[in-house]
Amino acid sequence: MNAERQSDELNRRNSAFDNSLRPVDFDGFVGQRKVRERLMLAVEAAKARGEPLDHVLFSGPPGLGKTTLSYILGEAMGVRVKTTSGPVLTKPGDLAGLLTSLEPGDIVFIDEIHRMAKTVEEYLYSAMEDFAIDIMLDQGPNARSVRLDLPRFTLVGATTRIGLIAAPLRARFGLVNRLDCYEPHELAEIVRRSAAKLNVDIDDDGALEIARRSRGTPRIANNLLRRVRDYAQVRSGNFITGDVAKTSLGLLEIDPNGLDEMDVRILETVCVKFGGGPVGLSTIAVSVGEEPDTIEEAYEPFLIMEGYLERTPKGRVATALAFERLGLEK
Ligand SMILES: Nc1ncnc2c1ncn2[C@@H]1O[C@H](COP(=O)(O)OP(=O)(O)OP(=O)(O)O)[C@@H](O)[C@H]1O
Ligand SMILES: [Mg+2]
Repeated sequence: MNAERQSDELNRRNSAFDNSLRPVDFDGFVGQRKVRERLMLAVEAAKARGEPLDHVLFSGPPGLGKTTLSYILGEAMGVRVKTTSGPVLTKPGDLAGLLTSLEPGDIVFIDEIHRMAKTVEEYLYSAMEDFAIDIMLDQGPNARSVRLDLPRFTLVGATTRIGLIAAPLRARFGLVNRLDCYEPHELAEIVRRSAAKLNVDIDDDGALEIARRSRGTPRIANNLLRRVRDYAQVRSGNFITGDVAKTSLGLLEIDPNGLDEMDVRILETVCVKFGGGPVGLSTIAVSVGEEPDTIEEAYEPFLIMEGYLERTPKGRVATALAFERLGLEK
């Protein structure tokens, strides 16, 4: 299975659970302080002017809160959020139907916007900029187009692959936000809030144990919490302590530092095959059988934040910590 299909599959499986724990307002949204403040300000200003919000783009690795923030924006603006995604937008008509059904101020949320067809993307340009689209009537020699005015709407796009967004599209977003991996203390806070929603007791050590293994990612933190909750319910009177978390996550063979299989393969490539680097991104990609963009945008942010990998002008370099984690001598 390629990475994109795999993430589709994961999304489907997790979406019901995601929804039940998804914060609905800015108060419930933990971390990403700068992004959060910037958005709150934009909402307040737009509301004071009585105007729709500027178009917003979110980028960052999977599970960091892009979809969550899009719905929070809808809630904060008091408007509807109409959702679609890049892969289903294969021809301009797919978008036209949606855009012509909007009320002023509505949010159109396009998930995985980098996977939208090129023809749809070009069509979107005039919709975003002039709030108008050209619709083709008839075909062949009778073909003509009519210009249709749209209500002023807000486009919110989300992507895990900012590198694949064409410059003209990117330039049409007034607010471009990159989400980064979360710190363990922020993830611990998310775990505590989710535990309360799931009616399970947890102490600070328990929350931190789960947070540390979550790869900087709220979705992973919530998923691990769900597994630990099963254990706690059956074995420890529905109370998650540090020890309970450690034991149950150990049973699941979750790496104590949150490294997943691909993380380990990337580090092994740099440390073992290339003696610690520097080694180029594309060489790493070929070695592990993954797209360079995916490595750069989905895996490296965590590895760099945790201090396993460094980006240098000559390529990626493994740190002493990476060797230590793999149990190797530098
Ligand atoms: N800052 C946060 N505070 C609390 N919970 C969060 C936060 N960010 C994400 N979550 C939780 O993580 C889950 C996944 O987040 P979300 O679906 O928004 O990720 P995403 O960035 O859209 O991922 P993908 O790229 O896979 O679509 C949400 O359901 C929510 O429960
Ligand atoms: Mg999403």
